[in-house]
Amino acid sequence: VIEERLVGEEISFMVVTDGVTALPLLPAQDHKRLLDGDKGPNTGGMGAYAPVPVVDAALAGQIMEQIIMPTVRGVASEGLEFKGVLYAGLMLTSDGPKVLEYNTRFGDPELQAILPLMKSDLVPLLDDAVEGRLSLTQCQWQSGNCACVVMASGGYPGDFQIGKELHGLERFKDRRDLFVFHAGTKKDRERCGSWGGRVLNVVGGGANLEEALKATYEAVSAISFDRAQYRKDIGHRALRKTVAK
Ligand code: GLY
Repeated sequence: VIEERLVGEEISFMVVTDGVTALPLLPAQDHKRLLDGDKGPNTGGMGAYAPVPVVDAALAGQIMEQIIMPTVRGVASEGLEFKGVLYAGLMLTSDGPKVLEYNTRFGDPELQAILPLMKSDLVPLLDDAVEGRLSLTQCQWQSGNCACVVMASGGYPGDFQIGKELHGLERFKDRRDLFVFHAGTKKDRERCGSWGGRVLNVVGGGANLEEALKATYEAVSAISFDRAQYRKDIGHRALRKTVAK
């Protein structure tokens, strides 16, 4: 059943809620298609960046007021106690933001691009949600941007082989400015191998999105495994908008 065709920018807007109050995380944008230019088959997500420049404070406020808070109140009014993460997949249409989907979990790989920008600690925030005191909680964010590039197995999201040895990871052991989150990997003694379709999430930051992407792609190019694939154009929608301004 086709309900409506929505045209616009797709973004991920996550909040932590205690069932009464909701605290928004930075907005992020996922890249679901396998290939550059948003072509090819759908995947679990090939990369992300945060924050999303088109989501300014006014739009974030509108999303909270018109979408998130009515949902939180609606759930409570049905006698359900929901504490945790609410993930709204939104389309920013010319008629305003519209909900595509809700998930009750963090977004992957969006969260990898959001968390390094969080100045406050995540655990007290989650504790406050569980204890019902989010109205007293504040979440502090760093300025700047983060990007996440997913390195996937050749053949993913179709058939792929696992057990490919990962090279170059040791270069990031002492880096505080770059993160390599393991998704589908397995460590066997000192060697690390691929063990899934989406293998690694490489995350870098910078004062702006261009810098974040440069740091991230430099890190990606230092890592290798047989038949690794990744998108080379993460952030292209935001960059195009910046150039167009
Ligand atoms: N990145 C999409 C999701 O986590 O559902």
